[in-house]
Amino acid sequence: MEYMQLNNGIKIPVLGYGLFMVDPLKSEEYVCQAVETGYRLIDTAQVYDNEAGVGNALKKSGIRRDEFFIVSKIWHTNAGSDKALKSIETSLKKLQTEYIDLMLIHMPYNDYYSIYRALETAYKSGIVKSIGISNFDTGRYIDIIYHSEIKPVINQVETHVFNQQKYLQKVMQEYGTHIMAWAPFAEGKNDFFNNSILKSVGEKYNKTAAQIALRYLIQRGIIVIPKTINIQRMKENFNVFDFSISDEDMQLINSLDTKKAVIGDFNDIEYNKYVLGIKL
Ligand SMILES: NC(=O)c1ccc[n+]([C@@H]2O[C@H](COP(=O)([O-])OP(=O)(O)OC[C@H]3O[C@@H](n4cnc5c(N)ncnc54)[C@H](OP(=O)(O)O)[C@@H]3O)[C@@H](O)[C@H]2O)c1
Repeated sequence: MEYMQLNNGIKIPVLGYGLFMVDPLKSEEYVCQAVETGYRLIDTAQVYDNEAGVGNALKKSGIRRDEFFIVSKIWHTNAGSDKALKSIETSLKKLQTEYIDLMLIHMPYNDYYSIYRALETAYKSGIVKSIGISNFDTGRYIDIIYHSEIKPVINQVETHVFNQQKYLQKVMQEYGTHIMAWAPFAEGKNDFFNNSILKSVGEKYNKTAAQIALRYLIQRGIIVIPKTINIQRMKENFNVFDFSISDEDMQLINSLDTKKAVIGDFNDIEYNKYVLGIKL
């Protein structure tokens, strides 16, 4: 495993296991498999309804708590400082832990500043070790920077070879915020795993398109959290630390950038309505 340092000095694995759309009843089993494979960063959220499964799996593992890096996110229906703080307590109970390594605002909706204030309070009391945001575009991001005491360590945004987020990454670098890539495979859209450039680069290194896609982001200093419920693919996605993509091949993959979201287009009213409609 490779690690990065966050702007508060905390160490984070560059690869984790994502749990979006993972059946709450199966999440414990899958997280156990992921932990067995070697994953130590686990990405969940209040709205995924699988924090309890994560908590059970971590307890079962017998591995020391400080070897894990647990990420969760506050849903916009928990806005309001008191409500947001209470929701952190609920997440702690479900995760069966005394602290969460990184807690994010899931979406820049509703009164999200009240959520950020709750995160700052939780950070100061030690129940949350790092705080951050998710799905914040450049404008929303710089606004938080100007109006917060504690700077976000992470902005978790849709990032993959078709939406490389170079501009956002450059802006955030100045303030020490890293990208955590959600949907590092674009959820398989645009025939992702058969992409001819990813496949041809992969042949050179004896790696799959998926492994090239993850390694490409890691080499750009981006943390990745691929999701799979298949144990073979869990291993495949984890096996990205024994090679490096050359500068020339990195350039080739750079050419795939369309600078557009494939999944979460926040300029699309229907997408926004869909997300706003999801209740806890
Ligand atoms: N902050 C946010 O708003 C937000 C939004 C979306 C996601 N996320 C986080 O980011 C994580 C990853 O994103 P995601 O789950 O949306 O999409 P993703 O990781 O880009 O793609 C997951 C899809 O790829 C398949 N897959 C995984 N590994 C594969 C491989 N090696 N070869 C072929 N197919 C493979 C999976 O199928 P199988 O399971 O069948 O293998 C699944 O259909 C989420 O789980 C969640 O933790 C956050």
